[in-house]
Amino acid sequence: MGEPLKIAVLASGEGTNLQAIIDAIEEGRLKAEIRAVISNNSGSGALRRARKEGLFGLHLSHKQFIAPEEFDQELLKVLGEREVELVCLAGYMKLLSPRVIGAYRNRILNIHPALLPAFGGKGMFGQRVHQAVIEYGVKLTGVTVHIVDEKYDHGPIVLQRAIPVLENDDAESLSQRVLEVEHKLYPEAIGLFAEGRVKVEGRRVRIGGSFPNRG
Ligand code: GRF
Repeated sequence: MGEPLKIAVLASGEGTNLQAIIDAIEEGRLKAEIRAVISNNSGSGALRRARKEGLFGLHLSHKQFIAPEEFDQELLKVLGEREVELVCLAGYMKLLSPRVIGAYRNRILNIHPALLPAFGGKGMFGQRVHQAVIEYGVKLTGVTVHIVDEKYDHGPIVLQRAIPVLENDDAESLSQRVLEVEHKLYPEAIGLFAEGRVKVEGRRVRIGGSFPNRG
């Protein structure tokens, strides 16, 4: 077995997915090391959790820079210095630039609280997703972990799990059940990368026994 996969978690909000990743590592279910937690929000739960766990936590926002390119440069510098191999977006509310995505091609993941390509795209985040699911009347929603490309919620899909929408669900009750599944699925998906089992072929992600690039 190889070394733990070095990851960064980028989060803007409460950071419960970050916590799920921390817990999976601590419980030995995920062979990874969180090398950095980066948030555009200085008051985020994610940074609070990072501090509490003694992790490297950094507030990095476009507002700290004059030009967007300077933000990109700093972000890439930190990721490089921390030797990050996989970037995990967990409720990160900013779109990464093509430069950053290009530098980490197929090595940036995102988690989305619905079954993509439904209920995704620009403006589809947080409770809005669950509200749209309820209003549309679909019987199934779920969780998607996907690779990040230049478009919102668009890149190749790594894992998905379906969740039934119940008769009396509202956005709040649904989001709670979806979040529980997110907390299981994200560490699982990161684990596949840690074990070198992910191969991206165009839009299709193959999950194999072990591919020679890692593990
Ligand atoms: C999650 O629902 C995730 O799918 C979405 O943003 C939310 C983040 O929640 N991208 P948390 O900050 O991890 O608690």
